[in-house]
Amino acid sequence: MAKKGIKKANWSGRFNEPVTDLVKRFTASVGFDQKLALYDIEGSVAHAEMLAAQKIITQKDLKAIQGGLQSIQNEILAGTFKWSLDLEDVHLNIEKRLTDKIGEAGKKLHTGRSRNDQVATDLRLWLRAAIDETIQKIKTLQLSVVQLADKHQKIIMPGLTHLQVAQPVTFGHHLMAYYEMLQRDLARFEDARKRMNQLPLGAAALAGTSYPIDRNRVAKKLKFDGVCENSLDAVSDRDFAIEFTFAASLLMTHLSRFSEELIMWSSPMFGFVEIADRFCTGSSIMPQKKNPDVPELVRGKTGRVTGHLMGLLMLMKAQPLAYNKDNQEDKEPLFDTADTILDVLTIYADMLKGISVNEKNMKEAALKGYATATDLADYLVVKGVAFRDAHEIVAKAVNLAIKKKCDLSELKIDELKKFSKMISSDVYSYLTLEGSIKSRNHIGGTSFEQVKKSIEKAKKRLKQ
Ligand code: ARG
Repeated sequence: MAKKGIKKANWSGRFNEPVTDLVKRFTASVGFDQKLALYDIEGSVAHAEMLAAQKIITQKDLKAIQGGLQSIQNEILAGTFKWSLDLEDVHLNIEKRLTDKIGEAGKKLHTGRSRNDQVATDLRLWLRAAIDETIQKIKTLQLSVVQLADKHQKIIMPGLTHLQVAQPVTFGHHLMAYYEMLQRDLARFEDARKRMNQLPLGAAALAGTSYPIDRNRVAKKLKFDGVCENSLDAVSDRDFAIEFTFAASLLMTHLSRFSEELIMWSSPMFGFVEIADRFCTGSSIMPQKKNPDVPELVRGKTGRVTGHLMGLLMLMKAQPLAYNKDNQEDKEPLFDTADTILDVLTIYADMLKGISVNEKNMKEAALKGYATATDLADYLVVKGVAFRDAHEIVAKAVNLAIKKKCDLSELKIDELKKFSKMISSDVYSYLTLEGSIKSRNHIGGTSFEQVKKSIEKAKKRLKQ
């Protein structure tokens, strides 16, 4: 028997002493799993309706349960529900309040279920909503990317490999690369949703239940595509949480790369773009500074989300079947991952609207790095020179241009002819940035025409 004056847990029938305060705090999840409350109620209503339909409880009990849960929902939404640490988690808090309100009928709600299948169901319902919101927000961000690309589609900038000037590309083309990454991120979330959308409820503690339950009915009511086929798996695996966090980590990784570029481009050393003041902060000591805090934080938070992924994988790795209390640790990283990516997606879509572009600096940077050297080699190949020989000829021409501190297109025709007699004055149209861009005219290439096409295609897709 528990000591007088101490609230007993509803599972404490066989215990001789209450848990210590520290153990109570250590084992409780109510501080964070409150977030599941409305999904817990939704799941309970569907469960109770099924119990009544199967004549496991009476219609009268069902009415009482429905009414009680509705008024609890109102209390939660109004912020007047009193959460108690003594009642450990969201499930026991709600169940106790129900029994306090409606008496005997409240005690029947837990018939044929366990907190193990209950929490797995709640979490999937919550995650499904989070995925749907994420998908919408990715689309909004894609729209911002496409609008920025559309506006600046013909601006020429240096395309880099190894952070060295490689070949000219358009800013529109560069931005559309992120559109593609986001499109795959979107597909990953959609995919994870499909696998996750199976009902665990009915698995009970681990082995199923002896009552004549109808799991398909509950699945339909809760808009699951089907039921988890194995009760042990249903209560114990959290692969859906891991998958979501993986998709989130990859999304963050893409946005971290984008952020890194925005940070570099907005530095005065590049001067390619300016981020609107409302997304930057100043320095308390250096008056001239304008710091790109938002992209820096996105880059930083990528570590946080990927850390959650590692945490969840480690949480799972040594758990024997079926449910273990370890799984209670799945919630905080999962919640934080969703909160983080939803904020990041919102702020990013907004921030891109406040990007202004310095066309002149971008073009000058492209001119500085002999970005059309490959075009000269390709020109020679068309004239019959083998590519490897052409490569060497151009390297020599670049050397001369470096010595003369000029661009390849500024070398005189006689100077160029010294490297190969195949070069004639038509070469200059290949050596300009525009000429180089226009020549890459195939699907996926950087030509103005192709970039315009891919922007139009994306716009159409986003309208669907
Ligand atoms: N708060 C628990 C969790 O988040 C609910 C399930 C508890 N089940 C149990 N058998 N102790 O995982």
